[in-house]
Amino acid sequence: MKIGVFDSGLGGLVIAKALIEALPQYDYVYFGDTKHLPYGEKTAGHILKYTLDAMRFLINQDCRLIIIACNSATAVCLRYLQKRFCPKYAPDIKILGVIIPTVEEALTFNTEQIGVVATPTTVRSDIYAVELKKIKSDLNVFSLATPTLVPAIEKGDFDLAEKEVIRYSQKLKHLPVLILGCTHYPIIKDLFHKHLPNTHIIAQTELMGKKLADYLKRHTEIESKLSQNQSRQFFITKKTEGYLNVARLIDSDIDLKLF
Ligand code: DGL
Repeated sequence: MKIGVFDSGLGGLVIAKALIEALPQYDYVYFGDTKHLPYGEKTAGHILKYTLDAMRFLINQDCRLIIIACNSATAVCLRYLQKRFCPKYAPDIKILGVIIPTVEEALTFNTEQIGVVATPTTVRSDIYAVELKKIKSDLNVFSLATPTLVPAIEKGDFDLAEKEVIRYSQKLKHLPVLILGCTHYPIIKDLFHKHLPNTHIIAQTELMGKKLADYLKRHTEIESKLSQNQSRQFFITKKTEGYLNVARLIDSDIDLKLF
C-alpha cells in the first residue's frame, strides 16, 4: 500500500518532494488536478466533488494513507472525508491534511500575533484562525487572501509573483510570524523572506516531512501496511501552460502522466 499526495495542481509537488526526502523508503502516488485549478476560487461544492474524485483515484492506485497537500481542499473537505466518507466507503484509508500540522508548528513561536496568507477559499473558511485559537484563544490572527500568486506560479512567471509579493507585503510587514497557507507558496518562499525580512516565515515543505514521520511512528498499524519499494508515480489531469517549467523546478527528471 502506498502514500497518496493530492493537490489541485503542481504546487503540491513540493510537499510530495519534502515527504519523499524525509521518508524515501515508501511508495508514493501524486495526483495534481491541474484541470480544475484553482480550487482557491471555487465553491465548496465543486471543491468537494473534485476532491472526492481524487480520493477515489488514489484509493484505486492502492494508497492506504492520503495526504491532502492542498490547503483549500483541506479547509473545505477534510472533516467530511474523515467523519463521513472514510467510515462509510473507505474504512481502511487514512486521510490527513496540512492545516493542523502547520498550526502546531506556528504555535511553537511564542507570539501574540500570527499572519496567514492563503487562497480566498481558505481565508473565507477562517480555518487557520479557528484552529490556532482552539489552542491559544487570545491569539491575534491576521488572514490575507493572496489570489494572484497561484496563477503566476503555475505559469512559471516569477517576476509577476515577486511584484505581487511586494504588493501584499505592505499589509504583512508588522507580523512576527507568517504562515504560507497554500501549497504553492513554498516555491516562492525566498520572495517572502526577501520582502519581509523581519518576519518568521512558516513553509509547509519544512514541516510536513517531520510531521508525517512522527505520525507513522505513532501509528504502527498504518506504517506496517505501507510498501517500501521506493516507487514514485505522478499524475496530473491537464497539461497546462508552463506546467513542465514548474514541475522541473521541483524535479528535473519528473515523469508526469496524464490521467
Ligand atoms: N493548492 C491550493 C491551496 O493550497 C492552491 C491552488 C488552488 O487555488 O487550487 O490552497
